[in-house]
Amino acid sequence: MLECMNEPTAESDNITVFHHPLIEHNLAILRDEKTDNRLFRETLSILSQLLVYEITRTLPTVEVEVQTPLEKCTCRQVAPQILLVPILRAGLGMAESMQRLLPNARTGHIGIYRNEETREPVEYYCKMPPGAEKMKAFLVDPMLATGGSLTYAATKLKERGIRDITVVCIVSAPAGIRAVRKVHPELPIFTAALDRGLNERAYILPGLGDCGDRIFGTL
Ligand code: PRP
Ligand code: URA
Repeated sequence: MLECMNEPTAESDNITVFHHPLIEHNLAILRDEKTDNRLFRETLSILSQLLVYEITRTLPTVEVEVQTPLEKCTCRQVAPQILLVPILRAGLGMAESMQRLLPNARTGHIGIYRNEETREPVEYYCKMPPGAEKMKAFLVDPMLATGGSLTYAATKLKERGIRDITVVCIVSAPAGIRAVRKVHPELPIFTAALDRGLNERAYILPGLGDCGDRIFGTL
């Protein structure tokens, strides 16, 4: 039986798999084939916010002076400018709710779909905010299957001069993690679950099915 801990578990290679009761509870709802599109979206949104709390734990902060109704005091606020980069489409299901918790976050979009025959990523859109190269980027995609899409997206960000990149996923497969690691060994990867493997169509097992289709009802 897998060990369950109520703390983020640091695994090898800069990969963190979360074992938190609320994360696991919401993941079970996402995995359930009976979960309809609306509940799926709501649950993905809650789960993404729970991940934000964990992935921002080590963000640097700066001192700020605040005038309360009674007196001045010294407080701390998040220092870096955050760049949230969802991989379209499914990443949108995470990014909206994450942005609500991230102070002053900008959003860049990368549109990639996986050619279901070749399994190769196909890019159709990319737009980053000005000054993105100075920001701390969270690259978000619920599914890390073969790793093709995430590897491509991280390369694209680096080509735009963005070096500080953290990957945030919901369900990952070991082969996908290895593929990302091969090209981008230094990137921290956070995932709510590390699943068993891939089926013959490169879908994650046990996984949660096609995430984009379940978010947008295109099944
Ligand atoms: C899904 C998912 C990832 C990708 C993962 O997107 O959201 O981006 O597949 O697979 P990979 O690791 O093998 O590249 P999909 O291609 O289905 O596009 P969609 O988000 O528009 O549905
Ligand atoms: N994309 C998905 O949405 N789900 C998978 O299991 C693999 C790729």
